[in-house]
Amino acid sequence: MKILILGGDGYLGWPTAMHFSQRGDEVAVLDNFAKRRWELEEGVEPLMPTPPLQRRAKRWKEITGNEIKPFIGDLCNHRFVYNVLREFSPDAIVHYGEQPSAPYSMQNRTTAVYSQVNNVTGTLNLLFAMRRHCPDAHLIKLGTMGEYGTPNIDIEEGWITIQHNGREDTVLFPKRPGSFYHLSKVHDSANIEFTCRIWGMRATDLNQGVVYGVDTSTTELHSDLRTSFHYDHVFGTVLNRFLVQAAVGAPLTVYGQGGQTRGFLNIRDTIRCVEISVDNAAERGEFRVFNQFTEQFSINDLAEMVARVSKSQGLSVEITHLDNPRIEAEEHYYNAKHTLLTDLGLNPTFLSDEVLSKMLTTVRANCDHVDADVFAPQISWSGRNA
Ligand SMILES: NC(=O)c1ccc[n+]([C@@H]2O[C@H](COP(=O)([O-])OP(=O)(O)OC[C@H]3O[C@@H](n4cnc5c(N)ncnc54)[C@H](O)[C@@H]3O)[C@@H](O)[C@H]2O)c1
Repeated sequence: MKILILGGDGYLGWPTAMHFSQRGDEVAVLDNFAKRRWELEEGVEPLMPTPPLQRRAKRWKEITGNEIKPFIGDLCNHRFVYNVLREFSPDAIVHYGEQPSAPYSMQNRTTAVYSQVNNVTGTLNLLFAMRRHCPDAHLIKLGTMGEYGTPNIDIEEGWITIQHNGREDTVLFPKRPGSFYHLSKVHDSANIEFTCRIWGMRATDLNQGVVYGVDTSTTELHSDLRTSFHYDHVFGTVLNRFLVQAAVGAPLTVYGQGGQTRGFLNIRDTIRCVEISVDNAAERGEFRVFNQFTEQFSINDLAEMVARVSKSQGLSVEITHLDNPRIEAEEHYYNAKHTLLTDLGLNPTFLSDEVLSKMLTTVRANCDHVDADVFAPQISWSGRNA
């Protein structure tokens, strides 16, 4: 298949591109390196240096003989997007190319507007370009479990059947997201569903949980092939941050009471879920939603697991509770369905002590340049930011 990965320079995009390339698909990646600019703005960097995309693609070709073609440009530039789709003519498009951080979006008016314009405009440009140049291609779009928020009822996979005043209909599950970033994903989902219904596009919206993990089978092949692993308060997801805190002997910083419960998955399972979606395309006119996570944990659960595994490696780790910079429920009901990907063949990598221990070992081997000043949250949902 011809597969185009948007956001192919990112944490998830690059290993996904290598995976499809390795199995023999023709792969191209698109990125405008916005993430590298946000890192400079925030004064943060990945745990390990991430070589330029072109060098990674060159190294990949040397090692495997397979080509990953980079397209450098902005999804918000519609002419560029039209040109790429006309030239490459993909069968499937995996869309990771968005601003992915809730704290980044909550800093101020500028970052909130930027996050929504970047994400919503990029996806709209893509939908129009697909209609023009590859209307039969399958869009696999990365959404987030955070679109749903934490409702006091079970979370279905995208759709819910409701009886009201004696009548019944199946509608998109109600969304109550927790940041301007998460709202951008809700707007994307509504726009994509609309184009499936009106234009007959085919799309899979992957409402992904929080991803953890340092490497995959392809990033391990060479140091130039690693992916951009973040541990800072802006871009670092919680378990990744806890692992680095443990590795350098800093306390694990739980926000608030720590009862916040979310869905999580290993980066290796992200790639497998995307692969399953690509190989089982949605029908024309279908807007399909999968809840892409494998296990639910509270933040306290994760902190305790990291502390236990760290102890087994001889590290003494403390857990501290900070005032929560986010406005969110700290104790709540949470039960999200997630069977559709398993039904299609996902065999999850669960977060065992062994898996955690291996990740911690890798982090410890690479923690010489950790900046401990970027662990603590500096962005508040209340708007009182520096
Ligand atoms: N990492 C997670 O835990 C997680 C969880 C749920 C959902 N997601 C979603 O998965 C996707 C990938 O996440 P990630 O962690 O790999 O993020 P990332 O920031 O590492 O990757 C996103 C990439 O998209 C690129 N990009 C952003 N805007 C662009 C634009 N306008 N044009 C071209 N390229 C653009 C960035 O430069 C970056 O390389 C995001 O959409 C994110 O919201 C991630």
